[in-house]
Amino acid sequence: MSPDPIHIRVAREGDADAIVSIVNEAYRAEAFFVAGDRISRADVDTFVQAGSCFVAEADGAVVACVQVEVDDGRGYFGMLAVRPDAQGRGIGRTLIAFAEATVRQRGCVAMDIKVVNLRVDLIRFYASLGYTAGGTEPYVHRPVLQPCHFVLMTKAL
Ligand SMILES: CC(C)(COP(=O)(O)OP(=O)(O)OC[C@H]1O[C@@H](n2cnc3c(N)ncnc32)[C@H](O)[C@@H]1OP(=O)(O)O)[C@@H](O)C(=O)NCCC(=O)NCCS
Repeated sequence: MSPDPIHIRVAREGDADAIVSIVNEAYRAEAFFVAGDRISRADVDTFVQAGSCFVAEADGAVVACVQVEVDDGRGYFGMLAVRPDAQGRGIGRTLIAFAEATVRQRGCVAMDIKVVNLRVDLIRFYASLGYTAGGTEPYVHRPVLQPCHFVLMTKAL
């Protein structure tokens, strides 16, 4: 399907409720291995205040978000989430390209991401975008329903 016309901008304080609900709804996709919410309002407030959270709007409503950071010449994006009823239309792909362009403009030579090893389709998708697996890290966020770990993936920019 062709991408929706979306507008990407830095998140503002008034977006926090929408971000919390989009992230927690979208990450229900992980309910098969982890229970509970993916993100708290306090964490979203921290990202918004730091200016590291970006939202995508379609028809005037926030439909997706991503958190982007730069550290020592390397970029990182996380909390990528598209409202379930807007998924599969290219918005996720567009936000990833936006995150990559953002850190490239800030001088980064690579982008790092963390994907849970059980998300096999997602790992395959990131591989198709040029990300390669380079290590693992324990999954310590929340109590899990089955063993899992993060796969660290990297793309040279
Ligand atoms: C992963 C996610 C951000 C993708 O956003 P999206 O707007 O749906 O994705 P796009 O339409 O740009 O498609 C990108 C890829 O996502 C996958 N995808 C998208 N919608 C999908 C769906 N409904 N079912 C299965 N895979 C899907 C496909 O692999 C697709 O690649 P393809 O076009 O080559 O088939 C979105 O599905 C989401 O919010 N998921 C829940 C939260 C999450 O898992 N975040 C990422 C954690 S690292």
